[in-house]
Amino acid sequence: MSKTINQDIDHILVSEEQIEQTVTEIAAQIDRDYKARVEEGGKLLLLCILKGSVVFMGDLMKHITLPVEIDFMKVSSYGAATKTTGNVNIILDLMRTDIPTLDILVIEDIVDSGKTLSYLTDYLRLKGAHSVRTCTLLDKPSRREVNFDPDYVGREIPDEFVVGYGLDYAEKYRALPYVGVLKPAVYEKN
Ligand code: IMP
Ligand code: MG
Repeated sequence: MSKTINQDIDHILVSEEQIEQTVTEIAAQIDRDYKARVEEGGKLLLLCILKGSVVFMGDLMKHITLPVEIDFMKVSSYGAATKTTGNVNIILDLMRTDIPTLDILVIEDIVDSGKTLSYLTDYLRLKGAHSVRTCTLLDKPSRREVNFDPDYVGREIPDEFVVGYGLDYAEKYRALPYVGVLKPAVYEKN
């Protein structure tokens, strides 16, 4: 049973069915790419970036057939006020002593400026991870401010603010099962 479309949503950009198909395709790609590494004893860690990526992470991990471990980090970007690139606050760090043994796949909801993932991949490499790659459900390549390309991309989308399937506006709409574009009136109220 699907939820009826939320009244604040202008239109659905990626439907539940499209998300399901995308997640299945990415999981199959990950299975193929990491099979040899896991067979030679590698530990694949899916690293969920809170909070927006929890829904994607939960679905993706069910579709991956290789053994995986999961962990979480929480970061926040400084506001648009700062011009310095790569300024990201770590609010919840990866508290593990086995980082050099890990093949880390960072799971993100959406890549926008690219600052978050660019910073995080550098950070995890400096901590000595065996490998670091990135996987995002959504990508807005036209918004990029730093040179960064995710390794796995579900869908490229235009420069529109989207919510649902984990993504929020002011902490709302995360539980919607689809990705939708908010009605402009919702922002204009604020
Ligand atoms: P970046 O560092 O600019 O790439 O920021 C990516 C982060 O910005 C994502 O993890 C989201 O939290 C947030 N973000 C960017 N675009 C959107 C959007 O359209 N809807 C909701 N959150 C977004
Ligand atoms: Mg996020």
